[in-house]
Amino acid sequence: MIVTIDGPAASGKGTVAKGLALRLGFAYLDTGAMYRAVAFAVLRAGKACDDGAAIACLLPDIHIEMPPDRVLLNGDDISEAIRAPHVSQGASKVAAVAAVRAFLVPQQRRIGSGRDMVTEGRDQGTVVFPDAPVKFYVTADVRVRAERRQKELDMRGVATTLERELAELIERDRRDSERADSPLRQPSDAKVIDTSHRTVEAVLDEMEGVVRRCKTDRA
Ligand code: DC
Repeated sequence: MIVTIDGPAASGKGTVAKGLALRLGFAYLDTGAMYRAVAFAVLRAGKACDDGAAIACLLPDIHIEMPPDRVLLNGDDISEAIRAPHVSQGASKVAAVAAVRAFLVPQQRRIGSGRDMVTEGRDQGTVVFPDAPVKFYVTADVRVRAERRQKELDMRGVATTLERELAELIERDRRDSERADSPLRQPSDAKVIDTSHRTVEAVLDEMEGVVRRCKTDRA
């Protein structure tokens, strides 16, 4: 059974997706990490993240593995490096390249095939797993999201300001929602969860209830 969680950057979807998978005993897939890994490879090769032709040439040499809590690019552990702000912006750019989506989407479907899995991203309920029996769209006020991102970077020792994070999120949201291929959209059959003023536990209780009810109905 596939559970999809889509939503904008820093909406809290990563935290709740991981927590929900743990509560349910499901596998967890962070598809944003795959786009980040591609951006990392593109930047490492000295190419621009919006140079579709150059990126298409690099793709055959990009091998991404995702053991629990880690991301490997051709065997190198890049789990921390892909969280850097310039990789976030790069990921949002490579995600608009059709060849990149055509490269990653089949891999995501393969990973989910025949498994119980919670998968998070921007297009999981709309494009990658349109038949998933449970879909969530997790969102939060943009200011709350910027505050969260600032706190997260602060904890990792990355200097930033609230204004800068706000501007970056607005820019990334715009790019993710306006691209032609698989833009960020709320699936029409998704349950919308606004995490702005709720605790992680409260959100998880609600989501777990939805999934368990669906499992019972399907049994
Ligand atoms: O969830 P994230 O912030 O780690 O995602 C990084 C970027 O990757 C995000 O700006 C948009 C893109 N992305 C996407 O286009 N489709 C997905 N399924 C996941 C992420």
